[in-house]
Amino acid sequence: MPAEGVELTPNPQLLSQAEIVHLANLFVTSGVNKIRLTGGEPTIRKDIEEICLQLSNLKGLKTLAMTTNGIALARKLPRLKECGLTSINISLDTLVPAKFEFLTRRKGHEKVMNSIDAAIALGYNPVKVNCVVMRGFNDDEICDFVDLTREKPINVRFIEFMPFDGNVWNVKKLVSYSEMFHIVVKKFSDLKRLQDHPTDTAKNFKIDGHCGTVSFITSMTEHFCAGCNRLRLLADGNFKVCLFGPSEVSLRDPLRCGADDQGLREIIGAAVKRKKASHAGMFDIAKTANRPMIHIGG
Ligand SMILES: C[S@@+](CC[C@H](N)C(=O)[O-])C[C@H]1O[C@@H](n2cnc3c(N)ncnc32)[C@H](O)[C@@H]1O
Repeated sequence: MPAEGVELTPNPQLLSQAEIVHLANLFVTSGVNKIRLTGGEPTIRKDIEEICLQLSNLKGLKTLAMTTNGIALARKLPRLKECGLTSINISLDTLVPAKFEFLTRRKGHEKVMNSIDAAIALGYNPVKVNCVVMRGFNDDEICDFVDLTREKPINVRFIEFMPFDGNVWNVKKLVSYSEMFHIVVKKFSDLKRLQDHPTDTAKNFKIDGHCGTVSFITSMTEHFCAGCNRLRLLADGNFKVCLFGPSEVSLRDPLRCGADDQGLREIIGAAVKRKKASHAGMFDIAKTANRPMIHIGG
């Protein structure tokens, strides 16, 4: 959470529920079989349950996932599950409540921990826990996070800290995959690599006797752009083919001006063809104006 807070986008600029479902249907009928709701914070959208219900009914959709800060999740999750939410990622960068309050500028550590347990109790397996590792902040907690996988069916995902506008990124704060890996393997010597899917963004590992798993998301030091098939539709209807690329094209405006599905498919197709072979590298990304992660959605 930036010190100055977050300026909220006025409602009329946001996609309506009907627009979200219309555009999602266009993607699903074109072959997309997984949708992740992220943000911003998806659980604060008032109609999130109805959006999930409508998306989960799209023919051809196999996975409906959500990435959330976990603050309001525990009480909402039973209904979200009924509405078809199949997979859950909860962001948690520290196991120390005081550090949590410093980073997020709010209390709520216990709520997030409760949300992880609520998701496990509801049968989500694995519950994915996203942990962005930042030197001097939480790099001393890596093995504590791995310890959680002993008893809990969670997938702890250590994410390399990425530069975005306003997040005061600095290469010194980046803890590389290789460094994180060595920290884990020093304590958990039987860390074993699992078979990844070609479009996985994570390198996945298992430790004997642990019911959960450990992954590394190495976007900065070992990018996975070649296998990346992600597309992003932002809350205001802009379409982005790369998290790190600044180019965006509006789908909301042509939709509101009466474009038919064929016209929208052409705009989407042209943007997808402009997807680059790889991102520009962390130092150039850090210098390029792009929307902050809190606006794009991870
Ligand atoms: C931007 S958040 C949005 C969804 C939701 N509000 C949440 O907190 O999970 C999505 C994910 O991006 C990750 N993220 C945010 N900034 C990041 C950065 N600079 N580098 C790597 N991951 C980042 C977060 O930890 C989170 O797991």
